[in-house]
Amino acid sequence: MAFAVPLFNLAPDLTVSRLCLGTMTFGEQNTLAESFQLLDKAFNSGINFFDSAEMYPVPQRAETHGRSEEYFGRWIRERNVPRDSVVFATKVSGPSGQMSWIRNGPESLDAQNITEAIDNSLLRVKTDYIDLYQIHWPDRYVPMFGETDYDPLRHYTPVGFEEQLDALKRAVDAGKIRYIGLSNETPYGIMKFQQVAKSTAGNLQIVSVQNAYNLLCRNFDSAMAECCHNERISLLAYSPLAMGILSGKYFAEDGGPSNARLNLFKGRYKEGESRYDLSKSNVLYAAKSYVEIASRYGIHPVSLAIAFIMRHSLVASVVFGATKVWQLEEVLAACKVNLSPEIITEINKVHSRFPSPCP
Ligand SMILES: NC(=O)c1ccc[n+]([C@@H]2O[C@H](COP(=O)([O-])OP(=O)(O)OC[C@H]3O[C@@H](n4cnc5c(N)ncnc54)[C@H](OP(=O)(O)O)[C@@H]3O)[C@@H](O)[C@H]2O)c1
Repeated sequence: MAFAVPLFNLAPDLTVSRLCLGTMTFGEQNTLAESFQLLDKAFNSGINFFDSAEMYPVPQRAETHGRSEEYFGRWIRERNVPRDSVVFATKVSGPSGQMSWIRNGPESLDAQNITEAIDNSLLRVKTDYIDLYQIHWPDRYVPMFGETDYDPLRHYTPVGFEEQLDALKRAVDAGKIRYIGLSNETPYGIMKFQQVAKSTAGNLQIVSVQNAYNLLCRNFDSAMAECCHNERISLLAYSPLAMGILSGKYFAEDGGPSNARLNLFKGRYKEGESRYDLSKSNVLYAAKSYVEIASRYGIHPVSLAIAFIMRHSLVASVVFGATKVWQLEEVLAACKVNLSPEIITEINKVHSRFPSPCP
């Protein structure tokens, strides 16, 4: 069955599908053959936007590092996909104190690290350019992945916004990247990056921010939304299904399929497990309530979760994941679902009782 995936103009000559296939399972949870099947299905269904990162796949380890980018590049070549018919996004890792196999950590997001990361991504994908290059997380202390409160004591002196943007500008000028995006950013970061990009960095345009956004995580809707609206920066909403929780499958008596991410990688999925912690009663109650609303209105819970994000005017694209083709089909089906004002009211009632339990 064919579904029309709507499009969004992220920049004057950058049109993306409003569904973006995330590739972070490629090379770990998904084999090369499975990754190709998912890419084929997505592309043939009207998805032209694909998101990766130098550190993928996850859970990350030295042995698999870079496979997600590599698989995407192989798919373009082996399927003879015209390069200009897809929008390829990837990311440079910030400092993490882990992943020693990526430029020793990396220790900072200075110009040398950014330049090396871009060159290595181009080599892995075997392409001449990256359409959207994103800073995966900031090189400064910010509350992230489930943290909310800012702790001034954790502040350290980061690499300057100017140096990072200057390195990105040089890559744009060299034709290696087309557009710049941020990720896991805060209102402060958005405004500082934008201010420097428009002044000292020679009128660069930051087009997007990729932050978590789903029914259990709506923090974007406050100060971030104001900054993005005024600065004309679009949201790329990642983890729209809260890593699969909003499908309802983890509420089965047996805790859901053993090959589902949060079961399969128990103890190895730091970001997912700390943010989407079903042992917290507010997370569990809110998630079950959204699944229950879907059932009451005869909508698939995956459609409810995806359609809720697609109706957001600041969301350019929903960056989702799928490990099976049938999952991808269920996500695609959300394109034909319109949520009535009555359903939105029900959703907002749950939200006001349990606001963003997975920040
Ligand atoms: N910028 C960042 O820091 C950041 C962080 C996270 C993600 N991302 C990006 O966002 C992309 C998507 O993230 P995500 O994978 O967390 O998104 P998600 O859409 O919330 O979760 C996707 C996972 O949910 C399960 N699923 C999908 N469709 C389903 C269905 N119909 N029924 C049941 N289960 C279903 C699958 O996992 P199982 O089969 O294992 O259950 C799938 O891998 C990533 O690939 C990456 O590109 C970026």
